[in-house]
Amino acid sequence: MKTSSLLVVNLIVWFLLLASLVFSNDYTTFKKVALPPSVTGPQSAVFDRAGEGPYVAVADGRILKWKDPATGFVDFAYTSPNRTKKLCDGTNDLKLGPTCGRPVALSFNYKSDDLYITDAFFGLLVVGFNGGLATQLSGGYKYLSGIDVESYTQNVYMTDASLVYDIRNMAQPGFTTDSTGRLLKYDPRTTRVTVLMSGLSGGGGPSVSSDRKYVLVPDYMNKKIHRYWLQGPKHGTNEVFMANFGSPKNIKRAANDGEFWVAAEKPSQGLRVNGTAVVLQTVPLTQFLDTTIAVVQETNDALYVGSSHTDFVGVYMN
Ligand SMILES: *[C@@H]1O[C@H](CO)[C@@H](O)[C@H](O)[C@H]1NC(C)=O
Ligand SMILES: *[C@@H]1O[C@H](CO)[C@@H](O)[C@H](O)[C@H]1NC(C)=O
Repeated sequence: MKTSSLLVVNLIVWFLLLASLVFSNDYTTFKKVALPPSVTGPQSAVFDRAGEGPYVAVADGRILKWKDPATGFVDFAYTSPNRTKKLCDGTNDLKLGPTCGRPVALSFNYKSDDLYITDAFFGLLVVGFNGGLATQLSGGYKYLSGIDVESYTQNVYMTDASLVYDIRNMAQPGFTTDSTGRLLKYDPRTTRVTVLMSGLSGGGGPSVSSDRKYVLVPDYMNKKIHRYWLQGPKHGTNEVFMANFGSPKNIKRAANDGEFWVAAEKPSQGLRVNGTAVVLQTVPLTQFLDTTIAVVQETNDALYVGSSHTDFVGVYMN
């Protein structure tokens, strides 16, 4: 009796091991999706409701959309009313930022198909499905950086990196950020912005859980992720969700409900975590080890990796 049940347990364990080898995605294949010549800094890579994309925000102020291998990326939207293609296309000069714009993070409202944008110079903007010049919804920030639209309530969760420093200060060599960053909420019905958390560092991007009960908030310098409760008995409060695992940039919902991908440094890696902060998978982003990464976005069994320093979007597949 005892040996036979042991045997069964053994068989089950072997089966599970084998199944995990066969079915788990370990993202061992890497390919670069090149940006147009001299364009750099794809810090965000999102897909629309039809699965088209990625849409990427780049350093020269544009939001580009990937069409197909023959066409590559095409212009989709831009954030600055004074932007000209002649002056701005291909630039990464932050001094031109107030003219060219610097979109940093993107998130679709999947109900309206509007694309919400945070821009380091122009704050929160939105653009319709046909693209073009985005409309500013909220301005006056030092450096609005991360964004996640919760498509059910249509509330917009954002992070600003600092109350003191802007993107130009932060690009200086040796700069270390402060802890005056915040988690904000934009309510599209009242157009009001509320401060949910302060004392954060590094900007990065928040992510609302798939059950809409909480939002995960990166705190780069303090090597922490916080959980801010949106519903339930702890509604309106926050707690430390994860600590001492590296420094988090953007956090994105994973394909599996209740799971997230954290873009973490150093070294650059993608961590898949669940709602009890268990790291389910660690993917070393070997091609980015010496480069700061911004985001790990899972779509169609692939991880799209964006960085403010590259001239490509990295794609990890099986
Ligand atoms: C755009 O240019 C006009 C004319 O130079 C200027 O008055 C305006 O402030 C600029 N707008 C922005 C958003 O920089
Ligand atoms: C997270 O994963 C761990 C290990 O598999 C599991 O014990 C835990 O229940 C999971 N948490 C959630 C919220 O699914």
